[in-house]
Amino acid sequence: MAILEALNWRYAVREFSDKQLSDETIAELVEATRLSPSAYGLQPYKLLVVKSPEIKNELLPYAMGQTKVRDCSHLFILTVNTTIDADFIEQHFAHVERERGLEAGALAGFTQHVKDVMLSMSAEQLQQWAENQVHIALGNLLTTAALKQVDACPMAGFENQGFDEVLGLAELGLRSAVICALGERADTDVSSAERKVRLPINDFSLEI
Ligand SMILES: Cc1cc2nc3c(=O)[nH]c(=O)nc-3n(C[C@H](O)[C@H](O)[C@H](O)COP(=O)(O)O)c2cc1C
Repeated sequence: MAILEALNWRYAVREFSDKQLSDETIAELVEATRLSPSAYGLQPYKLLVVKSPEIKNELLPYAMGQTKVRDCSHLFILTVNTTIDADFIEQHFAHVERERGLEAGALAGFTQHVKDVMLSMSAEQLQQWAENQVHIALGNLLTTAALKQVDACPMAGFENQGFDEVLGLAELGLRSAVICALGERADTDVSSAERKVRLPINDFSLEI
């Protein structure tokens, strides 16, 4: 499917069928999410894939009445690291050095620069920065899903604390930021008939 056709085909699905996505499809969506760019390549986030009907049911009370959390095939939980500190940044660049076959410490100067920039932010600013990064990954996930004709609904309407408790995220050093239900649109989904509404192109894109 061509890219603009896919982006017009997709919409935020409100009601899913009971079709289950294959492991292969999920693996491809996970990989597309993993390949997302992030500032300095730091990837201050992780992805949790919920397939278990029992866990989806446990999440439902914290989903603000959004039953698609239960009814989708897979629920992707995009989480951010709760700790972004010098150690995290150093570990990232040590990983880059190993992956690129560089000597240990080859990136020490750049690592210091990144620490200076990042660690001048407050804890709140760092968490907001991490959320910004994970939303880029969400965008990649949505576009990839559309290209593969997998239906999706991104969601910020859920109680983060309830989700974090059910999923044991604090113990993993993570907290939920945004979620995405994936599966197949139900024939009865009323949203499928709604016209896509966006700013008119001339209001949206300004050329100077
Ligand atoms: C970050 C984010 C959070 C969203 N949260 C919800 C949500 O909680 N529930 C929902 O039904 N739709 C949610 N949406 C879907 C939007 O309402 C939808 O994308 C928007 O109205 C544009 O419509 P379309 O995606 O169908 O083209 C969210 C979208 C984004 C990007």
